[in-house]
Amino acid sequence: MIDAQDYAEFSRFLADCCGLVLGENRQYLVSSRLSRLLDEFAFAKVEDLLRALRRSADPTLKSRVIDAMTTNETSWFRDNYPFEILRQTVLPELLAKPRPIRIWSAACSSGQEPYSIAMVIAEWEATHPTKANVNILATDLSESVLAQARSGLYDGLSIVRGLSPERRQRFFETVNNGHRIKSEIQQRVRFQKLNLMDSYAALGKFEIVFCRNVLIYFSADTKRRIFDGIARQMDSGGYLFVGASEAVGSYTDAFEILRTPQGSMLRRR
Ligand SMILES: C[S@@+](CC[C@H](N)C(=O)[O-])C[C@H]1O[C@@H](n2cnc3c(N)ncnc32)[C@H](O)[C@@H]1O
Repeated sequence: MIDAQDYAEFSRFLADCCGLVLGENRQYLVSSRLSRLLDEFAFAKVEDLLRALRRSADPTLKSRVIDAMTTNETSWFRDNYPFEILRQTVLPELLAKPRPIRIWSAACSSGQEPYSIAMVIAEWEATHPTKANVNILATDLSESVLAQARSGLYDGLSIVRGLSPERRQRFFETVNNGHRIKSEIQQRVRFQKLNLMDSYAALGKFEIVFCRNVLIYFSADTKRRIFDGIARQMDSGGYLFVGASEAVGSYTDAFEILRTPQGSMLRRR
């Protein structure tokens, strides 16, 4: 069991390096999430891991701890309505103007979110005479989910979560060890490691941002800082999608809610 002092130190470490707030009495969660890592690095207890984190400048251990503690849950077309709004409202408006569109999937996990966006764009192109001038940047803090996203390879269990048989048929090929996303979709997405606690200024401006199901684990102050940072990367009229249970109103006034027949999204004021 982790004592109160170690738990407090570990909580501070996570909040500082990736924004994650553990809250009170989650010692059990920490122990269970770290148990494999402790075995692998031959640490007898969390206290030894903390000592190593304090001592070592080696980024590998830190990154492995973050990987173990973050939640990577995702699925294809998660919640469906953001992708319908994209298809029915946002793309027709933005693609009517002859200029490139940049989309950022912040906290993309193993790639299902940005690849779902890419599929919507491919479907739009199939019914229009011109190619859409769209770039998708997908970022995450975790090296391991980024590696899976880049590989474009999914097992039988993850392929069915949210993906219709038609889309599976059209956008994937079956390979020995699972299903590989076709290069037509894969090449539309660029993956990059990025910690949302750092600056995004170097990323440039985006017309559309998806930042979904990640800030729920962060403190109010951190959410405020991150939403303001995202707002700075968008011009007036840009669109932001957050998770179905997330709201930005108490953290920033940079966005207004826009209701569509498919559901709500946010628009940069
Ligand atoms: C629950 S998944 C959400 C994935 C996707 N956006 C969705 O809605 O399905 C949360 C992701 O946020 C990432 N994450 C956690 N803290 C982060 C941080 N500080 N910076 C960037 N990504 C972070 C995790 O690695 C994980 O892949």
